[in-house]
Amino acid sequence: MTRLNNNLSQLRNDASACSLYPVRTDQSSLSGCRDREGILMNTLSTGRVAQSLDKLHQDAEAADRDYRAELMATIEASGATLEQVIGEKLAEERADYRATYRDRADNFLAVSPAYGRFLYMLARACKATRIVEFGTSMGISTIYLAAALRDNGGGRLIGTELEPAKVARARANLDAAGLADLTDIREGDALETLRDVGGEVDLLLIDGAFTLYLPVLKLLEPRLKPGAVVLGENAFEPGYLDHVRNPANGYLSQPLPVDEGRGNEFTVRTL
Ligand SMILES: C[S@@+](CC[C@H](N)C(=O)[O-])C[C@H]1O[C@@H](n2cnc3c(N)ncnc32)[C@H](O)[C@@H]1O
Repeated sequence: MTRLNNNLSQLRNDASACSLYPVRTDQSSLSGCRDREGILMNTLSTGRVAQSLDKLHQDAEAADRDYRAELMATIEASGATLEQVIGEKLAEERADYRATYRDRADNFLAVSPAYGRFLYMLARACKATRIVEFGTSMGISTIYLAAALRDNGGGRLIGTELEPAKVARARANLDAAGLADLTDIREGDALETLRDVGGEVDLLLIDGAFTLYLPVLKLLEPRLKPGAVVLGENAFEPGYLDHVRNPANGYLSQPLPVDEGRGNEFTVRTL
């Protein structure tokens, strides 16, 4: 909770720091949004996007608090190591990943504000115009990425989510943030819904069922642009890590020091 609050206040501080050093411009080609005085700001730090994210991170904290506490209590009671817990989670998913996520239909399981901010910055830095996301949930990570598309001058984010109720909530959240026009949230299993993503992909965020990281990557591999970025959030599955960490497969990859312990892997397509 403290970390979440710190991160949110950091976001607010950054937004206000930006207004201390304003850029006044009349260049209509520049994207981003302006405050009442016409100061150009990035879409993430202002207006509907900032308000939506503030509220959604609070909702996520409230919705997931009990689940996280139960998880921690189970781990402490069993004395299991992190590796053992992850091993059990992978085994449960292998048996029936749809059932695993049906049980979590009310949980956000969202990226942290720090990771979301990193997503926005990365999508800006690589000037992404086509982004694919495996695992939309309520759309928090989607908002960070779609805000970057807005500031890149436009593009398309194709997301996918198994749970119909989450799809509806994600679409409503994107609408509230003013980003629905940049997104195509597909209901169903990523292995089906991501077969056709309509073109070359600049950035892929993999944040769905842990056991599907490698199958989803292989599905999209032919569509990755040279130099494309692939982010694995909770990338614990050994087969996935072996694949992206072997340069012979056309990737360079390493753990990302954001939210350490959450299995964040940063990968670049080198072919
Ligand atoms: C960790 S959450 C995603 C969080 C989201 N990226 C965010 O930061 O707001 C993982 C989501 O992936 C969904 N999911 C799991 N397996 C899937 C599959 N095969 N196809 C589509 N969605 C899937 C789950 O229902 C769950 O909502």
